[in-house]
Amino acid sequence: MEIRSSPESGELLFGIIGRMVVSVSHLSKYYQVHQKEPGFIGSLKSLLARHYETVKAIDDISFEISEGELVGFIGPNGAGKTTTLKCLSGLLYPTNGRISVLGFTPFQRKKEFLKKIALVMGQKNQLWWDLPAVDTFALNKEIYEVPQKQFDQTLFELARLLDVKDLLNVAVRKLSLGQRMKMELIAALIHSPKVLFLDEPTIGLDVVMQQKLREFIKEYNSRYKATIILTSHYMGDVEALCKRVIIINSGRILYDGLLLELVKKYAPYKTITVVFRDYVDPKKLADFGEIKNFDHPKLELRVSSKQVGKITSEILEQFEIEDLTIEEPEIEDVIREVFSKKE
Ligand SMILES: Nc1ncnc2c1ncn2[C@@H]1O[C@H](COP(=O)(O)OP(=O)(O)OP(=O)(O)O)[C@@H](O)[C@H]1O
Ligand SMILES: [Mg+2]
Repeated sequence: MEIRSSPESGELLFGIIGRMVVSVSHLSKYYQVHQKEPGFIGSLKSLLARHYETVKAIDDISFEISEGELVGFIGPNGAGKTTTLKCLSGLLYPTNGRISVLGFTPFQRKKEFLKKIALVMGQKNQLWWDLPAVDTFALNKEIYEVPQKQFDQTLFELARLLDVKDLLNVAVRKLSLGQRMKMELIAALIHSPKVLFLDEPTIGLDVVMQQKLREFIKEYNSRYKATIILTSHYMGDVEALCKRVIIINSGRILYDGLLLELVKKYAPYKTITVVFRDYVDPKKLADFGEIKNFDHPKLELRVSSKQVGKITSEILEQFEIEDLTIEEPEIEDVIREVFSKKE
């Protein structure tokens, strides 16, 4: 453990060598939700005595993230992902537990902390609708006290990476969804934050734009050694970007580890697709593995990962083959498997 003093904040930063950037310990966040019975009588009753119910949006989660990691935070609707990111960026006060981000306690919202982080929400926007995006960037420059030279450089660089140089002076309402999302990212990154919380940054974008944003996120991560937590319902994002995933459901962590290990643990199978040259009796195929689909001449066979080599060579020996491919399981299927095993 090393103890260092941060000259800007005057705070003591406790960090392990290899730099732990995010540390969450036994974090819980409960919401009190007002319950009302239906109808007019229900409204009257609730005027007299309010009835509250507790929603455990996050329920005792712990994890740590090191500098430069790009972690996928995944789970179904209502799992607690956005709530966690809001707690990490200091928008919400936790019910229980401890959070440290870059040595700061987020909900204190210290200026030095805010200068180093960014929360980007794909479903919310901060750009001024009737003005060109560059005006919002200029406002953020003042808020975050970015020196002019650094601002010019960062804007030039981000606009180049995202390919929006010609759109900076166009009123935001005239931009497409994808173009606007890119501008949202620039607005969030103009102060060069070291830690990014990206909440569904690719939502609603077409596949080409999704791909571009992925490339950008990857580039930002490696170029600036930025630490990034990303939520997405598109498994393509997670597969392309995140070595490590944290899976959350009903406010609890179900899995925290390498995506590769997740596949090995929960879906230890591969799919062999064979196109036969001649007709094959389906009875002869059942011994090789689980037949997912057989529509002659094409067979889809699910086999254990360990046996894939052996079974492939047996098929090649016994049949005349037009084509053969081996595929990893779909991440969507793996995640479904995780949930079905834990319930
Ligand atoms: N302001 C709020 N007041 C009351 N309950 C809330 C509030 N915000 C979220 N919740 C509840 O907390 C739980 C977690 O919500 P959260 O938005 O964190 O989920 P999520 O994982 O981001 O889901 P999604 O994938 O749909 O974005 C849900 O049950 C939700 O209804
Ligand atoms: Mg959410």
